[in-house]
Amino acid sequence: MGKTTVSAFARRREAGEKIVVITAGSAAESAAAVAAGIDIILVGDSLGNTMLGFDTTIPVTMEMMLHHTAAVRRGAPEAFVIFDMPFMSYHTGIDEAVRNAGRALQEAGADAVKLEGGADPELIRRLVASGIPVLGHLGLLPQSIQTVGSYRVVGRDEAEANRVIAEARMIEDAGAFAVVLECVPGELGRRITEKLRIPTIGIGSGAACSGQVQVLYDTLGITARTPKHAKRFAEVGEAMRKALAAYAEEVRSGAFPAPENTFK
Ligand code: KIV
Repeated sequence: MGKTTVSAFARRREAGEKIVVITAGSAAESAAAVAAGIDIILVGDSLGNTMLGFDTTIPVTMEMMLHHTAAVRRGAPEAFVIFDMPFMSYHTGIDEAVRNAGRALQEAGADAVKLEGGADPELIRRLVASGIPVLGHLGLLPQSIQTVGSYRVVGRDEAEANRVIAEARMIEDAGAFAVVLECVPGELGRRITEKLRIPTIGIGSGAACSGQVQVLYDTLGITARTPKHAKRFAEVGEAMRKALAAYAEEVRSGAFPAPENTFK
């Protein structure tokens, strides 16, 4: 079977098959995602929060994203990998944005890029015309936290819902292959999914979306606080703490390393 291309996701939507997306930031994570049968790996800038210890995604740079995306690609050579364009990498002019998106494909091996917000259809057109597939991202936009002020559900009132619908149509018309809907009410997620031809990928936007994306650390139970839209499918954080406590205990007691861990 050849490598997945964006048209596969449109066919999945047509066939009513859900698209499964997870974030990853390392080779071990992407290898596990592929082994688990995940459809798309998103190298989300949320790795700034989960892996790098920042409070927001604002400090995440192109260089950090390239570094993590290249690792994800090495762990999963055949996967469909999306590079999340970080804050200020696509805001200072179309030429600069196209150059940065090109680096994601050329230097890190990504297959597509994701952009937050619905403001600039021309940018999406230029990227697609340059051969760079684009995933849109609407609703809650973590890169706008400084102007918006809080992480909240978007589109609860009709005016705001209509704005998100208009932006989704614009993103589709500009040539994006799919759109992430983050934290919009489930009913709005359903309306947008019905109105668009391209797939919608929900996170906190209800079950009617064409697919779902989740942050790996939430899904594995590594993050301390679980957002309402996430589910802890395991308690990996607790398993890590227990394993490390056992390691420390055995080093201190002399039980580790044992003869079988020692070279003759
Ligand atoms: O950065 C990220 O992980 C994302 C997803 C939440 C969609 O943008």
